[in-house]
Amino acid sequence: MAYRWKNTLSDRHVTDESIYMNRRQLMTAAASGLAMAGIAGAARAEALETNSWEDITSYNNYYEFGTSKSDPAKYAHTLVTSPWSVQIDGLVDRPGAYALEDILSKMTIEERIYRFRCVEAWSMVVPWNGFELSDMLELAGVQSGAKYVAFETVLRPDEMPGVRYPVLDWPYVEGLRLDEAMNPLTIMATGIYGKDIPNQNGAPLRLVVPWKYGFKSIKSIVRITLTDTQPPTSWNKSNGREYGFYSNVNPEVSHPRWSQATERPLGGGLFASRQPTLMLNGYQDEVASLYEGMDLREHF
Ligand code: MTE
Repeated sequence: MAYRWKNTLSDRHVTDESIYMNRRQLMTAAASGLAMAGIAGAARAEALETNSWEDITSYNNYYEFGTSKSDPAKYAHTLVTSPWSVQIDGLVDRPGAYALEDILSKMTIEERIYRFRCVEAWSMVVPWNGFELSDMLELAGVQSGAKYVAFETVLRPDEMPGVRYPVLDWPYVEGLRLDEAMNPLTIMATGIYGKDIPNQNGAPLRLVVPWKYGFKSIKSIVRITLTDTQPPTSWNKSNGREYGFYSNVNPEVSHPRWSQATERPLGGGLFASRQPTLMLNGYQDEVASLYEGMDLREHF
């Protein structure tokens, strides 16, 4: 990668450099397993516009645990997230089951404060902890014929009450083009606010692609397959007219049933005003080049 992505959202809101410096030191401490509680406080002080822990962990979409926003926080505790391994296969040099602790021992955990925009037209700002997906894919060695990356969520009916209902074709699957997957903005999240990511948010390992609608950010991943053909995705299979493969945040392309021009920021209270949705969720500088020459209405 030509550049290391810089966290512009948080930088813009830095008001007190000493808090920022302090947080950097805390991040280093966190890498060695210390000061987790300290980080949470410092990150909150610095990035004034991040949503609260409560917003982020009590209003969720994780249909394997039910379709109401409060279901995942109520029911996802039954998911056993340790031990965990991720099968990486397809067009890679070193296919196999990678134990999560082995993956983590080779990764540097960073904080990334990202806008998160759901296709349902609500949004949050989330301080994720995680690592770049490209670093994980490099462990397995991506072969030159690979063009897409397919992801799969764990499927355990005994631990996931929602999969009794055929809301989606289980397991939940998602996909990215390889260049999207390798973009430095694309991360695998393992934490929020310096704490382990809660089950309802996709523990122990979930994808975050901040310029795409939230449903692309697949949770509790157990399999990653490199392929040369565009993989099927759950929401596209369920309703291809409403949910495309790309699903880039785009205020100019309406969902067939509602406009995507504005969004409701969570945590603003009942009467909070809607705000304009940004093209590619505000990450145009970083990712617009991926779609040069493509008609984003056709490839929605
Ligand atoms: N991943 C799985 N496995 N199952 C789901 O139902 N919902 C998606 C996405 N990932 C979902 C999923 C949708 S619609 C959104 S908006 C985000 O997760 C919500 O992430 P959050 O609960 O951490 O805010």
